[in-house]
Amino acid sequence: MPRTHRAATVIALLLVAAVLPACGSPDSPATPGDAGAVPGSGGVLDGASLVDTKCTTCHTRARIDAASKDLAGWQTTINRMVTSHDAQITAEEQSAIAIYLSGR
Ligand code: HEC
Repeated sequence: MPRTHRAATVIALLLVAAVLPACGSPDSPATPGDAGAVPGSGGVLDGASLVDTKCTTCHTRARIDAASKDLAGWQTTINRMVTSHDAQITAEEQSAIAIYLSGR
């Protein structure tokens, strides 16, 4: 299943991107195993409940359930919710939501 494989690769890249900023502080050496030290990184957030709490303030969940997109498509849509409509969603939450919605 090539699509699944590609999605897994993109997800891996996303998780790396979500964790990288935490490696910037001068007194913490950038050990890759430090991922657990990032509170609320994309890998541990619950995309399903984030959609229910973060994505239903302006429109209903039905609007989201009616749409079917791949990971890149959801990233584009969620990014538009943030940049055009001022949705208050952190980068980590956006990743978790995109991963959840593209994997449904
Ligand atoms: C701040 C208000 C706001 C929030 C929060 C919000 N949206 Fe939206 N959304 C809109 C508006 C306004 C539209 C209609 C205009 C448009 O499509 O850009 C829309 C349209 C949509 C559509 C239909 C259009 C399309 O591209 O398929 C989807 C799907 C969607 N939103 C998903 C989401 C998801 C997922 C979230 C949570 C990450 C979210 N929205 C959070 C305001 C919001």
